[in-house]
Amino acid sequence: MAALAVPLYWLYQAWIFALGADPGKTLVDYLGLGALVLLLLTLSMTPLQRLSGWGGWIAVRRQLGLWCFTYVVLHLSAYAVFLVGLDVEQLLVDLRKRPYIIVGMLTFIGLLMLALTSNRFSIRRLGKRWKALHRLVYPILLLALLHMLWVVRADLGEWLLYALIGAFLLLLRVPPVSAAWQGLGQWLRSTLRRSPIKA
Ligand code: HEM
Repeated sequence: MAALAVPLYWLYQAWIFALGADPGKTLVDYLGLGALVLLLLTLSMTPLQRLSGWGGWIAVRRQLGLWCFTYVVLHLSAYAVFLVGLDVEQLLVDLRKRPYIIVGMLTFIGLLMLALTSNRFSIRRLGKRWKALHRLVYPILLLALLHMLWVVRADLGEWLLYALIGAFLLLLRVPPVSAAWQGLGQWLRSTLRRSPIKA
């Protein structure tokens, strides 16, 4: 509901002329950033499950991933409508002038593959290959960060924040770090169980 409410609020802001001088560009930026935040949130669910031992995180992981994809589709659509005016020639000029659009498209293709296989039928059909395919989410995150870096260039502060969170989430998947993280979760839970203040 929150993921749906946010773009509706942006639409409302556009309606009341509260998105600045270039509302189309602002919408493209908001949706791109929203997609990146949702991608990072999706990747946080497994580490949170390992730390807390609560399965609820995994239950919302797929929904978050699919919302990330929805934001990307809206980001791409807003770009096509507001920034290139559905003009194929303009799009080709843009592709030549701004290579970050190509990086964005590669990221989109990767996310499309994950979204299309995020259902029970594909999980059953692909078996072990499903896990290997969904590991693509890590290069996808790196591509998304590269795409953003290319856009913001001089203004590195915000990008660094997302890049650091992404790097931490990637680090948590390295086997020894992941084992240590899980151990930390078990230790925290047993300490909380023993403490007089029950969790
Ligand atoms: C179909 C592919 C894509 C296209 C054509 C595209 C295009 C764009 C454009 C035109 C901008 C704004 C440039 C400006 O402000 O002048 C942008 C920004 C951005 N895009 Fe994409 N993009 C694509 C895919 C993605 C994907 C898959 C993600 C993330 C998962 C993403 C995340 C972002 C972010 C974070 C920004 C920067 C927003 C900011 O300035 O705060 N984009 N993209």
